Amino acid sequence: MIRYLTAGESHGPRLTGITEGLPAGLTLLEEDISFHLSRRQKGYGRGGRMAWEKDLVSISSGVRFGKTMGGPVTFSLENRAWEKDEANWPFTMSVAPVDDEQGVERITLPRPGHADLVGVQKFRFNDIRPVIERSSARETAARVACCAAARIFLKELGIEIGGHVVRIGSEGYSSWEAIREAADSLAGNGAESLFKRADESEVRCLDDGLTGRMVDLIKKIRKEGSSLGGIYEIVITGLPPGLGSYVHWDRKLDAQIAQAILSIQAMKGVQIGLGFEAGARDGRRVHDPIIADANIAGGFGRSSNQAGGLEGGVTTGQPVIVQGVMKPIPTMLKPLGTVDIESGEATLTRYERSDVCALPRAVVVAECVLAPVIANAVLEKTGGDSIEEIKERFQKLMA
Ligand SMILES: Cc1cc2nc3c(=O)[nH]c(=O)nc-3n(C[C@H](O)[C@H](O)[C@H](O)COP(=O)(O)O)c2cc1C
Repeated sequence: MIRYLTAGESHGPRLTGITEGLPAGLTLLEEDISFHLSRRQKGYGRGGRMAWEKDLVSISSGVRFGKTMGGPVTFSLENRAWEKDEANWPFTMSVAPVDDEQGVERITLPRPGHADLVGVQKFRFNDIRPVIERSSARETAARVACCAAARIFLKELGIEIGGHVVRIGSEGYSSWEAIREAADSLAGNGAESLFKRADESEVRCLDDGLTGRMVDLIKKIRKEGSSLGGIYEIVITGLPPGLGSYVHWDRKLDAQIAQAILSIQAMKGVQIGLGFEAGARDGRRVHDPIIADANIAGGFGRSSNQAGGLEGGVTTGQPVIVQGVMKPIPTMLKPLGTVDIESGEATLTRYERSDVCALPRAVVVAECVLAPVIANAVLEKTGGDSIEEIKERFQKLMA
């Protein structure tokens, strides 16, 4: 089974990730991982960091001649800020003790909505810096690297993942049906077609009219000194029926998907298929009639896919459709009320360089974190140590 760990701080020397459990014989190239890292960096609504934060991964274990050897794969991402930025990060984030620790400026104004206050309370810090360094979404770069490896494994089996933005603040599709109209025919060619089309939009939205309105809204909210969140959708295609299980709570694939999505910074909700909308409809407008379908492995299909490809925590063989909700970014130009943790005085937050809307970038993170979940559901079914062996067994599932 695949598992991964990330380590590193936003302004430390580098981020590191280790993915363990990848089968042997998988072609794993740095440029294929960096492709998703660069996708994570693009999207309208970014702050000033983009210019110096170009991520290029380097692999230092587990791969020989471009192929995995079955052992842990280590990914490293240098933090450009470490050497370049005005804040003297090698001193501020020094790993070794420094002579003048008192000379390092402390951060004492917690931002509402960030991990600042709970972090200092939990770890008994008198400085918010160590909290920001690890809670910030810079960590998602390491996650994208670790999970992109699982994504490349899935692609070898014909399983594709692709995401797109369906809402930013008040601008979004009018209904579930409108989203299906925009997304389903693209996903019909494999979910990667969907993300490739979405990536053509500055906000990763499939609808050109909506893209324009979302960009205008971000501009307006930026001027107002506030921030925006929204909703994205991830589609996974090429799945056989029967991945996951209903026999025990922790084997349910929908539950594992929800956990992966909510593990991403700022995610506040997740739904599978119709999700929350299902609570507002009667059963006949929710459940998908079963039909004989020779094109789907196993021979059965559904005439619609409002279940989002999962029934009883098990894949139906239709695309898995997941939506995630991201709250607006906590760091805002216009301040909110806070309290100085040192003096106890009521005051206002101080602005730090930040995005206005990170949702288009978060889509890439969400695509990636689902990859190990799906890969493990596959491996649970097929077993196998090499990509060849797994492919042979997987093909039987798809027959
Ligand atoms: C891709 C991405 C980029 C983010 N960028 C920022 C940012 O620039 N400024 C900020 O305050 N929060 C940003 N966030 C959100 C914070 O990391 C998050 O709100 C914080 O860690 C607190 O965690 P919670 O919202 O899950 O409670 C970003 C999140 C993601 C997924």
